[in-house]
Amino acid sequence: MQENIIPHQFQITKKERSSLKSHPSFLLWFTGLSGSGKSTIANAVEKALFEKGLHTYTLDGDNVRKGLNNNLTFSPEDRTENIRRIAEVANLMVDAGLIVLAAFVSPYKKDREMIKNTVKSVNFVEIFVDTSVEECERRDTKGLYAKARKGLIKDFTGINAPYEAPENPDVLIETENTTVEEAVEKVLKFVKNKWLLRQAQLPNEN
Ligand code: ADX
Repeated sequence: MQENIIPHQFQITKKERSSLKSHPSFLLWFTGLSGSGKSTIANAVEKALFEKGLHTYTLDGDNVRKGLNNNLTFSPEDRTENIRRIAEVANLMVDAGLIVLAAFVSPYKKDREMIKNTVKSVNFVEIFVDTSVEECERRDTKGLYAKARKGLIKDFTGINAPYEAPENPDVLIETENTTVEEAVEKVLKFVKNKWLLRQAQLPNEN
């Protein structure tokens, strides 16, 4: 089927869209357990970027699973498909010139590798929101850990489904000893350094 699909070369490039917006576009990917603080931190980072006049959009597991991915379960195969679709959507948004923030449990290393390959590693920042399962369970903001312990949710990450922690994330946020403001600073600092470096190295990148 793919052999008859021939991509059209459009005249306006990513580089031109970015230059109209006056900033680079890239993907900030937040991974961590349910209730670890991914969405809270992504939201605060987006606010900080938006206030600097940058063009942003946030994709979040709970929201996307109500729409685009409402036909997917939490089986390993469906989680992979969930992340594959998000990676493709994020890739289009990065191509459109946006700074995309994505907050998904994304428990499997191979799936996070796939995202990096889809958007290209130069556009990808992996942020590990590291909160222990004990702390997530203590916070239990959505009451899901209690339900999972009672056996009411199957395949619940951290309880009866695995979470493969990143070994070498670009940004590590240990929420048990970091404030949200400190987390935002850490992300912004990384982004600033990475793109200063990238501008120096890749002047003609599309
Ligand atoms: S992922 O594993 O496929 O990346 P995703 O981030 O989209 O997960 O969705 C996770 C959110 O769905 C959690 O924050 C939680 O609110 C909810 N959820 C419901 N069931 C599960 C489950 N079995 N495991 C993890 N999260 C679940």
